[in-house]
Amino acid sequence: MKKIGILTSGGDCAGLNAVIRAVTLRAIQTYGWEVYGIHQGTHGLMRRPVDAIKFELPGCTGNLLRQGGTILGTTNKGDPFAYPFPDGSLRDISEELIEGYKLLKLDALIGIGGDGSQAILRRLAQQGGLNLITIPKTIDDDLSHTEHSVGFMTAVDVATEALDRLQPTAASHDRVMILEVMGRDAGHIALSAGIAGGADVILIPEIPYNIEAVAHKIKSLQENGRNFALVVVSEAVGTELGDKATITDQSGKSRYGGISQYLANRMTELTGAETRFTVLGHVQRGGQPIFQDRVLASVFGVHAVDLIAEGKFDRMVAWQNRKVVDVPIQQAIEGYQAVDVGGTLVKTARALGICFGDEDF
Ligand code: F6P
Repeated sequence: MKKIGILTSGGDCAGLNAVIRAVTLRAIQTYGWEVYGIHQGTHGLMRRPVDAIKFELPGCTGNLLRQGGTILGTTNKGDPFAYPFPDGSLRDISEELIEGYKLLKLDALIGIGGDGSQAILRRLAQQGGLNLITIPKTIDDDLSHTEHSVGFMTAVDVATEALDRLQPTAASHDRVMILEVMGRDAGHIALSAGIAGGADVILIPEIPYNIEAVAHKIKSLQENGRNFALVVVSEAVGTELGDKATITDQSGKSRYGGISQYLANRMTELTGAETRFTVLGHVQRGGQPIFQDRVLASVFGVHAVDLIAEGKFDRMVAWQNRKVVDVPIQQAIEGYQAVDVGGTLVKTARALGICFGDEDF
């Protein structure tokens, strides 16, 4: 009998519990293994006793498919190779985490994470000889070698619904509505939600924009009798001078946020239109996963366990051409999946008349 561990690391998203469920069902029902859920990402491995819970079949119901967040908790802070201590020092605590894996007597570990978490987990695995499999999750969908990561499609769905809700109020008040969505340095959420939600303008970090071109689009809508406009902007889009809007939290960590306010002011200056902005924020990460994420999570969870059964490690499960596959973790984290600016989605959006702010006018 094998003992496997599972942890969620980095920012949460919808579909994580569905992965945990699939891993547990497959491992116990098919192989008769024991499954341990490690709390709060790698932090659980650092604590003594190791902070983990043994999963049993009765707790593994369909409710986990529906439940947002992660029942294991997660963290996007505290790189174990430079772990911040209260006195301000940074120390390498990687050996403690490796010891945590060994104390649990694990035969393998499944890490659900984005590129940053996977890079840390892989480094730990290489250093300590841990048997690691990773499962891609990120609403940003920026991991290479997989068409989608768990959580992305739900985030797009939430952003699309926001546009559905903003459109009638925009039309009632003759307003330009700017919706700011997450995505870090990739514009996937903005692009897909913009197409699905009928945006007039989509601004993404991969396509530099000219504010005059955006204003021209809004004015031409007005001239043609349209009394409102919908703009979607990805959080990493900068000002016209390229300055990024960021927020610094109490710990001094900085993240993107706030560009929509700047754009709203500029739109009013340039077009005279009354403009409002909405920063969608973490709403995109919480809540129930839509069916696509539940299915992807289930497929990934089962495949991850099967890889362990085959003795194949250092692999990330991935979705390619309507099939589950697996790729070397290193390959997946080395690459980066930005929006393909010449790809089908951008071409389709342009063909529908959506402005990216880079058009001649
Ligand atoms: O990477 C996921 C993500 O939600 C990004 O889209 C966003 O920029 C960031 O995390 C927000 O981080 P935090 O949860 O620390 O606010």
